[in-house]
Amino acid sequence: MEEIRILENGREIGRVVSGPDIGGVSALLAGEKAVYMVYDRNVEHFAGAIAETAGCGIFRKKAIDATEQTKNISTVMEICRWLLEENAGRNALLLAVGGGITTDLSGFAASIYKRGIRFAFVPTTLLAQIDAAVGGKTGVNLDAFKNMIGVIRQPLWTYECPEVLGTLPYREFVGGSAELLKTFIIDNRGDDFSRAVSILTRINTAESRKTAIGAYGNGIMDLIHRAAAIKAGIVGRDQFENGERRLLNLGHTFAHAIEKSSNSLPHEDFAGDMVDTRVPAGNISHGEAVAMGMVMAAELSEKTGTAVEPVAATLRNNLAACGLPVECPFTPEELEDAMGKDKKAEGGIIHFVLMRRIGETVIRDMTAREAIQTLKK
Ligand code: GLY
Repeated sequence: MEEIRILENGREIGRVVSGPDIGGVSALLAGEKAVYMVYDRNVEHFAGAIAETAGCGIFRKKAIDATEQTKNISTVMEICRWLLEENAGRNALLLAVGGGITTDLSGFAASIYKRGIRFAFVPTTLLAQIDAAVGGKTGVNLDAFKNMIGVIRQPLWTYECPEVLGTLPYREFVGGSAELLKTFIIDNRGDDFSRAVSILTRINTAESRKTAIGAYGNGIMDLIHRAAAIKAGIVGRDQFENGERRLLNLGHTFAHAIEKSSNSLPHEDFAGDMVDTRVPAGNISHGEAVAMGMVMAAELSEKTGTAVEPVAATLRNNLAACGLPVECPFTPEELEDAMGKDKKAEGGIIHFVLMRRIGETVIRDMTAREAIQTLKK
């Protein structure tokens, strides 16, 4: 198993451990006296495999429905009540198994139950492996506003393995790849951006994408590991997002506004793969919105004179080749109101992450209105 330590001023605040399969979790649980596992109902088989080999003292489990609609304070309370009913003590470990919604709900519940118990994550989606389950941001939606309440508190460890990715619907896998590419747009010292684009493009154009994801398992895992190392470095230097960590929000101000606009439309059923890199406006996932948001951020980078190379065309072409949607179905004006309400806006000022080139990003402060006006030029 490989391990990345997240160090803050030389002190370990968390670990990201990777191994080939779900069996690796048992070694991390060995020695725990009481483990309470919260898992997404959709990954029952992985949760069952963990339960079978846990080998720790007390082991209890609880399935939840993990959707944007259940990602709220009521579900957090439900988890806390369950812990109380089960008599979970201060030394318990809450283990979350699932995608980012499950890890966010569980991490937040663990952070407030009895003023905080330890927690650990086994993310089962690419998106959660890259972003949600690393770095300690946990939280839930407040009405229509995403992740508006929460805390930053580090998981004891996050365990990542490629085995779980093989069962993902392709659309979910591709959505997660937006966060992978985002990380390498921020830090491309190993030219991981090109490597990631190359693997993801081959998967996207393969006859059987599922088989291709399996065939490129080692390459994908290596990229996930590289992305985790980059994120771990940033989080260790700026855990509470006063500076450098803001870079990880690349494309996210636009993305959150796109998701909010999408959620306000009637839901359009769309189970399949991307069509010409477009998805219905009433059914846009977080990763898809991040892809569109990064293209908008690239356009803003060019129009503000920040970019020193044609970043918008580079992102548009490469993201589309990977199977990501790049055309935002909303006009900039339609996004303006939601952008202004972004939880990261301070006194109307948003810390936009702009690109000088692939691998070099900078923060530029401006209002939503300024950004929209600049994009329209
Ligand atoms: N998702 C961005 C961060 O963890 O800071």
